[in-house]
Amino acid sequence: MRIRYALLAAIAACAPVFSGAQDPGLARTPPMGWNSWNHFATKIDDATVRAQADAMVSSGMRDAGYTYINIDDGWEKGRDAQGNIVPNEKFPDMKALADYVHSRGLKLGIYSSPGPKTCAGYEGTYQHEVQDARSYAQWGIDYLKYDWCSAEKVPELAADMQGTYRKMADALRQSGRPIVLSLCQYGHQNVWRWGAMVGGNLWRTTGDIEDNYRSMAYIGFGQNGLENFAGPGHWNDPDMLEVGNGGMTTDEYRTHMSLWAILAAPLLAGNDLSNMDAATRELLTNREVIAVDQDPLGRQGHRVWQEGPLEIWLKPLQDGSSAVGLFNRGYTESEIKLPFSLMGIGGKANVRDLWQHKDLGELPGELNAHVPRHGVVMLRLRP
Ligand code: GLA
Repeated sequence: MRIRYALLAAIAACAPVFSGAQDPGLARTPPMGWNSWNHFATKIDDATVRAQADAMVSSGMRDAGYTYINIDDGWEKGRDAQGNIVPNEKFPDMKALADYVHSRGLKLGIYSSPGPKTCAGYEGTYQHEVQDARSYAQWGIDYLKYDWCSAEKVPELAADMQGTYRKMADALRQSGRPIVLSLCQYGHQNVWRWGAMVGGNLWRTTGDIEDNYRSMAYIGFGQNGLENFAGPGHWNDPDMLEVGNGGMTTDEYRTHMSLWAILAAPLLAGNDLSNMDAATRELLTNREVIAVDQDPLGRQGHRVWQEGPLEIWLKPLQDGSSAVGLFNRGYTESEIKLPFSLMGIGGKANVRDLWQHKDLGELPGELNAHVPRHGVVMLRLRP
């Protein structure tokens, strides 16, 4: 009897997850791409976006799995006499831009707010949800980041954040074009509990990331406990990548990439792709690390061990292996011992180092790793 109640409760808890959802084929793995905000802020235009698309192809990022070219805030002008949203002079022809991005084998994303104004003070979508969704579909948009911002100042929206997001999800669905919906409201009201129910494919879990170790680590390591809310079609989003923007060391950026992959987080590069060095490209295109992020099982990893600044995180993968991150948040190099029993592995395991691209062989029960300050050793263990 008790089991039957538990089953019913589980079904009841799961059912609404899909009730407001977008096309079930969308975001089966965490979205990968690029977003303009972290590097360019509002200094973006048509030519910059095309250049990023070109660079995504020539750098090998597209072939490594990056797909979305996302325009963030700063493209909006206002509305025409019929109330249609109109891009500013920096984006003379949004449909032509989408066609170009599509011709490179990529997809185009855009940004708006449910309020009257966006965070940077541009025109928002308030009271034009269906009309804007239709414009996006006509242009060929594939992804919308919908940023709360001034909605907070509109009482009817502020009183119903969930309904406000659901409204846009419905409008996108009505548009007839599959468009990924990214909720951006900084993790307020425990969004991970209802983001999927209102039709979100991903939802920011925190405030804005900054290009420094402190901010990245605070956000990334703070995701522990949210792992049960993510899965195919609906992901926690600890914000876009800062890799390559210059504010962190290579070890720190390696931590950023590794942690985001273990978290099954969206991988949205936030640097200037048309001007990146080899080290940045290598960090962003490590296919073994990307495979962890994109693993079809879609399980978000979590912390399994901590000793002061040293942490071990685990992400179970579809083929029965485990991705493991040995993280050193301290100021000096440290040794971290990994007993395989932490991964539920009784005996030996085959171990591969995902940053060295090296098989470490079949090891009996445990290993010791030297982990640099603010750095990581990332492994894949097969029992
Ligand atoms: C908010 C979001 C950022 C970015 C800016 C744009 O701060 O959290 O990611 O979209 O708005 O104005």
